[in-house]
Amino acid sequence: MHEDIAEVLFTEKQIQERIQELGRQITEDYRGKNVLLLGTLKGAVPFIADLARAIELPLEIDYMAISSYGNSTQSSGIVRIVKDLEGPIDNKHVLIIEDIIDSGLTLAYLVDMLKRRNPLSLRICALLDKERPRAKTVPVDYLGFSIPDKFVVGYGLDYAQYYRNLPYIGILKPSVYGGTEEPEKEHSSPAEKR
Ligand code: XMP
Ligand code: MG
Repeated sequence: MHEDIAEVLFTEKQIQERIQELGRQITEDYRGKNVLLLGTLKGAVPFIADLARAIELPLEIDYMAISSYGNSTQSSGIVRIVKDLEGPIDNKHVLIIEDIIDSGLTLAYLVDMLKRRNPLSLRICALLDKERPRAKTVPVDYLGFSIPDKFVVGYGLDYAQYYRNLPYIGILKPSVYGGTEEPEKEHSSPAEKR
């Protein structure tokens, strides 16, 4: 285990098993349809790569990069599109693939925006969902795991852009981000201790 990880929440095996289950469920639900998997960069990349291979349907994959305005620990719900989809979605069944839902504001904004593009259908698949009170709830159609309201890294999730390559999901030691209650979600420079 990486020295900066306090606790492993989900092992590589647990993640992969859950993804196989999600893949089977999505395959059943979308049978006879073409689906567009819409991944959010960068955190959802490992998840979408594994999930896509667990789905037995004709499917397309595209990505959006979005960044949230506001201060760094709290998302504001105002979202800027850094990279948009390649084409229109009005003839597609869109399944959003998200790494983690925290306040839910980013996802709520994304859903509102995509609905205005009139997809044939729009659903959400998230690997992780934090158990916390929310101002705005977005219904998640497919969920990997519920997690406690702790900052997690690995399997695509980062702290200061690091740890995305860990094959498991773990809770970061508070000492890594200076022991404050919660680390900042977006960092321009890596943490000192590395
Ligand atoms: P909201 O609050 O809008 O934010 O749902 C979702 C985005 O915040 C990031 N985020 C995290 N990233 N570990 C991370 O590596 C976490 O525990 C965590 N919580 C939130 C992430 O980018 C997500 O898309
Ligand atoms: Mg991040």
